Amino acid sequence: MSDLGVILLAAGQGARMKSILPKVLHPLGGKPLFLHALGSAQRLEPKKVAVVIGHGAGAVRDAYDRNDVVWITQEKQLGTGHAVLCAQMAFSDFTGDILILSGDVPLIEERTLAAMIKTHRESEAVLTLMTACLETPTGYGRILRGGHGEITGSVEEKDATDAQKRIREVNAGVYVATARFLFAALAAVKHDNRQQEYYLPDIVIIGLAQGKKIATVRIADPREIRGINTREELALMEKTLQERINRKWMEAGVTLKDPQTTYIDDEVTVGRDTVIGPNTHLLGRTVIGKRCRIDGSAYLTDVKIGDEVHVKFAVVAASSRIERGAIIGPFAHLRPGNSLGRNVHIGNFVEAKAATIGDGTKANHLTYLGDCTIGRDTNIGAGTITCNYDGFKKYRTTIGDRVQVGSDTTLIAPVSLGDDVYVATATTVRRDVPAGALVFNEREEQVREGWTAQKRKKMKEKNK
Ligand code: UD1
Ligand code: CA
Repeated sequence: MSDLGVILLAAGQGARMKSILPKVLHPLGGKPLFLHALGSAQRLEPKKVAVVIGHGAGAVRDAYDRNDVVWITQEKQLGTGHAVLCAQMAFSDFTGDILILSGDVPLIEERTLAAMIKTHRESEAVLTLMTACLETPTGYGRILRGGHGEITGSVEEKDATDAQKRIREVNAGVYVATARFLFAALAAVKHDNRQQEYYLPDIVIIGLAQGKKIATVRIADPREIRGINTREELALMEKTLQERINRKWMEAGVTLKDPQTTYIDDEVTVGRDTVIGPNTHLLGRTVIGKRCRIDGSAYLTDVKIGDEVHVKFAVVAASSRIERGAIIGPFAHLRPGNSLGRNVHIGNFVEAKAATIGDGTKANHLTYLGDCTIGRDTNIGAGTITCNYDGFKKYRTTIGDRVQVGSDTTLIAPVSLGDDVYVATATTVRRDVPAGALVFNEREEQVREGWTAQKRKKMKEKNK
């Protein structure tokens, strides 16, 4: 079998997006547009992958965190034909088939591509185009066919006659071609069209003129080849993708109480028998364990959650780990860098940042835990604040196991409390406390009997 190479086109600005961000970097399902098609291509295990970049080249390159592709810079975007030709050098010693994909066609699936490559090889064509019949073909190139149904060309909408515009079979922008034919044909492509661009689909006519065999495959589900050129198309695509992702998780045994308002990014995973309530956002590389409950209105980004965790209503969490059996919320905020042990409770109006918290520890109400390490089975009382910032630097607080921190405690970092420490209510802790000690601030309580009545009387006279 001949080798497979891939060329992904991602150099265009995407003028119709009206954005300073290059089109292929607009996120879809939580990741840049071009990474979707690139992912499908990579799963075919090609021998070589070239990505043609131009607009925002540096940012596009930075969006990919592996080094298994060749980056080709297309200085000026002279058209899709020119873009592919720019990659020729990268394939100088390559003799197999080249799959060409667009960075703005994200839903194309690996198995569809595999089937297309198979057809291409079996039909011994030099070029195979993917086509689809669309209800509204507006914006796409149209496939021209002859009397026997054979392909005779592909015309861009801008160059099409009114009769051609009525054709509903479109060019999906996905091709397989033998490397030798591809680059030879591209060298002959001209730019004598409405857009003065070198059109990749023009290799169809060039091939036919040379008497070569050109094949087409018509895709069953046209949603897969939808391209994104406008923000509206991006929004519609996001919906389609969400439906696809939600269906996948429901089929895998996850309950979504309201799929319409459940937003799960492409790379998220969810364990079996987890129940997810409405208005939940699972973003980035979030991992949710089995039998978890997420009540709703949650916004979780890059969070790793163990089994049987209960995320109550209205929790915002980012870049944190939460172990099995923990209970979080309602109304909790986990900023990046937390590691919460098993059965930890983080209650309402608790904010945590870079906090490492041991198994069974509870902070149930109105607390800020920033830059701290807390042991196991410790209880953090309501209104506890780790004062981690003095206006210049951040400092850490360390709290041991089985510590009882009374309500309204302020811990002035850097400070550490040993195991089994008892902190009296309303204590400001400035110095380290050894294990097993009680810490409190000397403070005399004063009571003035009858004070309120006297004060009210005085105020009344004053206001006369
Ligand atoms: C293209 C096809 C059209 C097809 C449609 C399917 C051409 C001329 N037209 O049109 O027949 O129906 O895709 O989605 O091929 N790009 C570059 N360099 C360039 C120009 C484009 O890298 O100089 C990249 C773009 O970033 C994009 C892809 O090629 O990822 C397609 O370009 P775009 O301008 O979106 O082409 P369409 O008008 O959609
Ligand atoms: Ca396009």
